[in-house]
Amino acid sequence: MKIIKAKTAGFCFGVRRAVDTVYEQLAENSGQKIYTYGPIIHNEEVIKDMEKRGVTVLRSEEELEAVTEGIVIIRSHGVEKRIYEKLNSRQITVVDATCPFVKKIHTIVERESEKGKHIIIIGDPEHPEVKGIRGWAGKDTTVIQSVSDMEKLPVEKKKKICIVAQTTFNYNKFKDLVEIISEKSYDVSVLNTICNATKERQTEARSIAEAVDAMIVIGDKHSSNTQKLFEICNRACKDTYYIQTLDDLDLNQLGSVETVGITAGASTPNNIIEEVQNNVRIIF
Ligand code: F3S
Repeated sequence: MKIIKAKTAGFCFGVRRAVDTVYEQLAENSGQKIYTYGPIIHNEEVIKDMEKRGVTVLRSEEELEAVTEGIVIIRSHGVEKRIYEKLNSRQITVVDATCPFVKKIHTIVERESEKGKHIIIIGDPEHPEVKGIRGWAGKDTTVIQSVSDMEKLPVEKKKKICIVAQTTFNYNKFKDLVEIISEKSYDVSVLNTICNATKERQTEARSIAEAVDAMIVIGDKHSSNTQKLFEICNRACKDTYYIQTLDDLDLNQLGSVETVGITAGASTPNNIIEEVQNNVRIIF
């Protein structure tokens, strides 16, 4: 009987860094009010724990504007440049937990905009990361996510264009859109800014799910990357369980299987994964 836990289960580098930053700030600045601009990750358990320790989650720009002092932590998705400007003009310490891979995109779009290029961001315009990236580029910027968005592109021929991607965008879709844009008569430079963490987690989950009798996917019900992970695993293994914590798992269901795989979404903390793994191990 065997348990296979995915090496890529749980936090990616950027999320781990952001979560650690919050706990470090709590430890180092006990007398100060600590805020995160938006929930630091999509995981109710973690957010509840942070709130219990005194962290306040600011859920809108209005709430951010009402803050007059203390520490505001920027989450891994990053934010628009104007948010830093707003915070820096007050008695507020900004602790930046923007993932360095996202920060790199901010630097690229700001630099290329200053050179006069039109910026194309391939990604979901409603996603906070994309809104943040857009806020570092000039006015001459378009966000596209499908072929139907092509009509939004500039009409001027020979226009200098710089293309970047949302870090979690699907690589094949990105490649197809870049190909279509490149066929138009622009002067195009492409920077593939997709982060491999999501893809690696999905690839590993698929190969484990194909090899086991039952698969457990751990993550918040609202986490879109966990939902995707569940879909992938469920396609490869009929006995796939989507749980938030150990409480959701009926261990009796696993009674007759010989191999169990475990993976988790990018916002699932290690202690939850370990608790599941240890309890599954007990029944084997
Ligand atoms: Fe950063 Fe990639 Fe995670 S961009 S936040 S390491 S998915």
